[in-house]
Amino acid sequence: MSRDRRIDVVRPPAFVYRREGRGALRALFCEQADLAWLAARFGTPLYVYSAQTIRARLLAFGKAFRSIPHTVCYSVKANSTLAILRLIARDGAGFDVVSGGELERVLRAAPQSAARVVFSGVGKTVPEIELALQSGILLFNVESASELTALGAAAARLNKKAAIALRVNPDVSAKTHPYISTGLREHKFGVPIAEARKLYAEATRHAHLRVAGVSVHIGSQITDLTSFTDALRRVAELVRELRSSGQDIRYVDAGGGLGIPYREDAEPFTKQLAAYAKAVMEPLRGLDIHLLLEPGRSIVGPAGVLVTRVIYRKTNHEKRFLIVDAAMNDLLRPSLYGAYHEIVPVQLGLPSSISSSSFSPSSSSTDARSRETEKVDVVGPICETGDFFARDRELPIVREGDLLAILDAGAYGASLSSNYNTRGRASEVLVDGTNARLIRKRETPEDQMKLEVRS
Ligand code: LLP
Repeated sequence: MSRDRRIDVVRPPAFVYRREGRGALRALFCEQADLAWLAARFGTPLYVYSAQTIRARLLAFGKAFRSIPHTVCYSVKANSTLAILRLIARDGAGFDVVSGGELERVLRAAPQSAARVVFSGVGKTVPEIELALQSGILLFNVESASELTALGAAAARLNKKAAIALRVNPDVSAKTHPYISTGLREHKFGVPIAEARKLYAEATRHAHLRVAGVSVHIGSQITDLTSFTDALRRVAELVRELRSSGQDIRYVDAGGGLGIPYREDAEPFTKQLAAYAKAVMEPLRGLDIHLLLEPGRSIVGPAGVLVTRVIYRKTNHEKRFLIVDAAMNDLLRPSLYGAYHEIVPVQLGLPSSISSSSFSPSSSSTDARSRETEKVDVVGPICETGDFFARDRELPIVREGDLLAILDAGAYGASLSSNYNTRGRASEVLVDGTNARLIRKRETPEDQMKLEVRS
């Protein structure tokens, strides 16, 4: 057993430990809400989000890009729960959608935002295109010649004029996990710049298409900002070229992709954003465009945690396991990308030296919540070895029944969850100051079976 200073890691200001009464026990809060209390009230596994964090991060985006006309189109796929979309729409943001389903969500949560929606994705079907045309969205990010033809035909049928950008494939490495890297020539995304030139010329001749922009998105969880600069240099070059051939390019859509620090809060978000804004805007200097941004993870990622309860402790051949009630169906990122998520106890004892000097009845019975640590695998109940949240992780010792919080789970957590092993998807709670409200109920077996045909 060893001492580990990482147990102090939380995500301020939304997620911080507070001293409980005069005792030695400290409890993890989301804003003014005690996570242990939320877990008791709503059950586990439980997603908990901080509204203040989401608002603050949106605001920070606005500030970082204030020197240029821009619209933040939050990427719905990161977290598509209606209450989250409503919260984001209230702050004036638009949305990036990649399916008819996501568009339906935006229309339900914030119908007034339809005119600030951009529609990306390599496989838009005709019904999805028609829904988007009827809804009057801002921009189609077209990803192939065939899609351009389908869009032109649909717009003609509905007698609409579709504003389009071509999503170009800049052949730039995002230096991120290969599954979420999208800007290299071998990827399915976008069209090569040479082909884009031809398609723009075609689109201009179409009565129901209006050329409006150029778009790019090179991947997700990007921490090397030069990748953005490289991609946007190529975009800027294309914009100049298209304009000189008479095209009216008003928008540059720089996509999303800004990474968040999963391991430690390295620098304040505002500082990180300032550097990102510089990397994006520098190549666009002097172009007089309206910038569209599609952040997902960087808005909601650090705003959410997944609270889970330890069901059993178990030792197999000297290896220690904490079997928790959340699983890969709730948060797939560790299994799918080998992603690292910080895990902290929801209740934490003070270091033994401190707790012994400050007497409290609760501290004497909480030695299992001390700062002693042990090396464990944190795993879910699903029947796959890939069902884990952490391997060989040094964590403070917790007992059966104790709660853990998996941090930075606000993005690609709930939205990537499934019903594997016929597990109901977790409940979700949104905290705003002292107010905590259930924004998605836990799925029941009945919910899961109701669409299936009775034999
Ligand atoms: N725009 C487009 C066209 C996208 O494909 C994506 C993400 C975004 C914007 C938002 O990117 P962000 O700002 O969130 O990085 N499930 C993976 C991430 C997949 C990202 C897919 N596209 C994960 O959990 O890491």
